[in-house]
Amino acid sequence: MNPDLALHFSRVTEEAALAAYKWLGRGDKNLADAAAVEVMRILLNQANMAGRIVIGEGEIDEAPMLYIGEELGCGEEPIDIAVDPIDGTRMTAMGQSGAVAVLAASDRGGLLQAPDMYMEKLVVGPEGRGHIDLSLSLVDNVQAVAAAMNKPLEAFTVVTLAKPRHEAQIRALHAMGVRVFAVPDGDVAASILTCMPESDVDLMYCMGGAPEGVITAAAMRALGGDMQARLVPRTEAKGPGDEFVREEAIERERCAAMGVEIDTVLPLERLVSTDQVVFSMTGITKGELVAGVYRNEDLATTDTLVVSGASGTVRRIQSRHQLQRKSEALRDRVR
Ligand code: FBP
Repeated sequence: MNPDLALHFSRVTEEAALAAYKWLGRGDKNLADAAAVEVMRILLNQANMAGRIVIGEGEIDEAPMLYIGEELGCGEEPIDIAVDPIDGTRMTAMGQSGAVAVLAASDRGGLLQAPDMYMEKLVVGPEGRGHIDLSLSLVDNVQAVAAAMNKPLEAFTVVTLAKPRHEAQIRALHAMGVRVFAVPDGDVAASILTCMPESDVDLMYCMGGAPEGVITAAAMRALGGDMQARLVPRTEAKGPGDEFVREEAIERERCAAMGVEIDTVLPLERLVSTDQVVFSMTGITKGELVAGVYRNEDLATTDTLVVSGASGTVRRIQSRHQLQRKSEALRDRVR
């Protein structure tokens, strides 16, 4: 992948974060998300690539923008893109910490194409690589990874999402003496923490969104971590209600049409099949990995983490933006 694209992708998440910030604490997660989507789309269309969304903001009939299969860019290089314009839409609407704008890109064919559905995810950093198996229990996985890392269970930390569907797993982890950080939302940033030496987090487990899962997998390829995942039928994630049964039937049809296995453990190489990846994440509100947007009238700062898989380079980009000098297409959307 042309290395210049990494810098462009960092601009994409920066501008999406600025657009989302405009809606920070306004109580409407859909408006915040729509603003970030719109800006991402403008910037992706300016990229020197023949881009294609493989997983993102839903299917063509559900989402007007950044839908699966949407083509973006003004160049020739074939690139696949996974987007989550805001990971933490609710946190943005409520003015809470930890919301980010994020995307991953790869050479054509490098990222798993799947419907926007639930995915079970198990993620570890480089020291745990090769020691996870999602077909085993979470307790067995924690034991295997802790042993590989030579870490006592009392010093081992698992991060997960604080959702009712994870309560039994959290109880089991506490019973084995492991520390659990349960964050309200945002499993991409939580997963990346497993690869950061300065973080306590050793393993991320959750059932969350598939787009977030594919984006995380790209980051794991680039950072040398490991991941396994499983596309989860709706009734397993949400319960046996009629509505979920109907949604699950549609999910199964979409998985079949896309040629992706549902309810099967997918190793990292199936989620992302190349090291030619770029991952970019910009903070909307402050988090452990990146700072949030700071704005003083027409001056704003952003903090972005960009990882290039080809070289393994991790960049931290702190930018100062003059909002009144943005292009006409962006100015009113980020100001
Ligand atoms: P969005 O902000 O895109 O809604 O995602 C937030 C998030 O917490 C993800 O990080 C996670 O994968 C997913 O929601 C979990 O889904 P749900 O909110 O349905 O439990």
